[in-house]
Amino acid sequence: MAEPEGDRRSAPAALRNRDPILQVLREVLPATGVVLEVASGTGEHAVHFARALPSLTWQPSDPSEDARRSIAAWTRSERLPNVLPPLELDAAAATWPAAQADAIVCINMIHISPWEATEGVMHGAGRLLPANGPLVLYGPFRRGGRPLEPSNAAFDADLRARNLRWGLRDVDEVADCAAAQGLVLERSIEMPANNLILVFRRSVAL
Ligand SMILES: C[S@@+](CC[C@H](N)C(=O)[O-])C[C@H]1O[C@@H](n2cnc3c(N)ncnc32)[C@H](O)[C@@H]1O
Repeated sequence: MAEPEGDRRSAPAALRNRDPILQVLREVLPATGVVLEVASGTGEHAVHFARALPSLTWQPSDPSEDARRSIAAWTRSERLPNVLPPLELDAAAATWPAAQADAIVCINMIHISPWEATEGVMHGAGRLLPANGPLVLYGPFRRGGRPLEPSNAAFDADLRARNLRWGLRDVDEVADCAAAQGLVLERSIEMPANNLILVFRRSVAL
């Protein structure tokens, strides 16, 4: 894979977590269809996953213009036919520039944005996903009143110092927010470095 250059940005965390996340995506994503990625950041995940899962079409997005430039640059340099041009998508917005998706993936976003962005992800997933369509969230979480691991406690304090509306979210509160939009928490998977993947499915009956 090419090195960061020009508009292509790189995030060390994305390079560390992309293969463990990919292992889970192989299990939970549909075999074919469009995966909408909310908050694609640099675009390194998008090109990595799209290359590994060629029967899926990857739809990256990010509200940041710099991020979208980086995503587009990675897509160009990796010459992947199954990555669409990035969308300008703010999860918290009432309408999204996408009408349908077979799956939605959102990595390391809900703790670095106000709670309205989490609510927006759930509203969007409720609107766009078909019955049984998965929503995959990755990141560090609080769990049922348990004290945070020291590394996550330090990260949480740092986030809150940067913005009072940011911070690690509680799994139960996220699951309640999802349930209100017809999304059922199917699996919670332990990931390296005290992260979790939460897999929600759009319920059949709504
Ligand atoms: C820590 S980065 C994670 C990027 C990428 N998913 C990764 O794991 O490398 C957080 C990303 O969330 C995006 N973001 C922040 N608020 C958002 C919102 N309301 N809707 C969608 N994306 C948002 C930022 O622009 C940024 O790209």
